[in-house]
Amino acid sequence: MKRRTLLQWGATGAVTSAVPHFSLAMSRSPQYDYVLTASEQTLPLVDGGLTPGLAFNGQFPAPVIRAKQGKPLRIHFINKLAQETTIHWHGIRLDNAMDGVPYLTQPPIKPGESFDYEFTCPDAGTFWYHPHMHSIEQLGKGLVGALIVEETEAQNFDREVILGFKDWRLNKDGSFMPLSEPRHAARAGTLGNIATVNGKQLPVIDVPGNASLRLRLLNMDNSRQFAISLGEHQASLLAIDAMPVVPRSLTTQDLAVGMRLDIGITTPAEIGTEIAVYDVKGRFYQKIGSLRVSDVLRNTPPPPPKALPPNPVSEPDLSNAEKLSFVFEWAGAMTPVTSDGHAMNEFWTINRRAWSSMSHKNLPEPLAELQLGKSYIFDLYNATPHGHPIHLHGLIFKVLKSDKKDITPFFTDTILLEKNERAQIALVADNPGQWMYHCHVIEHMKTGLMGYISVS
Ligand code: C2O
Ligand code: CU
Ligand code: CU
Repeated sequence: MKRRTLLQWGATGAVTSAVPHFSLAMSRSPQYDYVLTASEQTLPLVDGGLTPGLAFNGQFPAPVIRAKQGKPLRIHFINKLAQETTIHWHGIRLDNAMDGVPYLTQPPIKPGESFDYEFTCPDAGTFWYHPHMHSIEQLGKGLVGALIVEETEAQNFDREVILGFKDWRLNKDGSFMPLSEPRHAARAGTLGNIATVNGKQLPVIDVPGNASLRLRLLNMDNSRQFAISLGEHQASLLAIDAMPVVPRSLTTQDLAVGMRLDIGITTPAEIGTEIAVYDVKGRFYQKIGSLRVSDVLRNTPPPPPKALPPNPVSEPDLSNAEKLSFVFEWAGAMTPVTSDGHAMNEFWTINRRAWSSMSHKNLPEPLAELQLGKSYIFDLYNATPHGHPIHLHGLIFKVLKSDKKDITPFFTDTILLEKNERAQIALVADNPGQWMYHCHVIEHMKTGLMGYISVS
């Protein structure tokens, strides 16, 4: 079998092949077939020394997994970590059994064991993958990667540039500082002190001039919320969380934890010109990386980027939708003790319930039970003074409105609720299963802000 394992970060990143894997027990022939291994791996992130990280296939950035819309994909995953794990395919509307949530959709994959994830991606776009166990540590130490689903028809870009954002909490010698501190977990989340794009601090990525580029930005950090701008450079926003939007000029666009943006730009013809990527905080533009024109592709500029083809997401029937409401609240500093004597912080709740640790004994009732095929409107209220990127697995929802900002309705898998914001989203419950519903600030999720929704 031929492996399609072109693993590329940035426009000119290293191209690596994954280890071939041969299996006799194949029921069908996946078009894309990968072997993915998680293991401990020292990573060169700072000058002072190596970081004892965790990595997929021994590398950071992790291999970029590529699939084609509507075509089966198989990932043979091997757990070489010292702890249990599962892998989740963020944003993919897949079969519930492949969603990678321990206890809810599959048993944890024990150290030394493997699991075959096989699914078909109905939607094209920029997605990502990460463990769904021991997440503060496993994601925080490097187990995050891009999953790109290509459109059925090739799009008209000269190049694609993947920009994966992740911060690290490191001492000068490269060792980890504590990844979570309760006082931060109880607020906005514990932030890293070393910011990286594709594993590099402030990278300058070479791109061709007079070229049409598709930028794929991914926020794979545990806690940091970005607001992306390309400064003065003309750019079009093409998709939010893999879901195409009517192209509009990019000003400053939220890229909350877990979210992705597809942006189209045309590069200038002058060699050496830099296009900076900024994270905007109020009036302050912090540069996080840049693109630099290194050669010229053609003599005249290409046509401006066009809209991406829509994904086959069902339009919710608003007039017949059932309304459900979800309140995200601060629960105070209770410290209940688990059966094994561990103190456990529960800071956050959804509809007055906190769910902070997952085990087979600790599976709560779903937050809501939806009827397969029916439309729903969720009323979301963030009753806390902190932002929460609320993410739903397995389903794509439409953001309808908010009491804090003007919304042009758009489809997404994660919505950033600002402090005290109330928003309405709608969806068709068209994918059966138990779907996690949680804040993607990993410490918030781990201290109560998670639950699941059942569709049947
Ligand atoms: Cu990125 Cu539960 O997900
Ligand atoms: Cu997800
Ligand atoms: Cu949160």
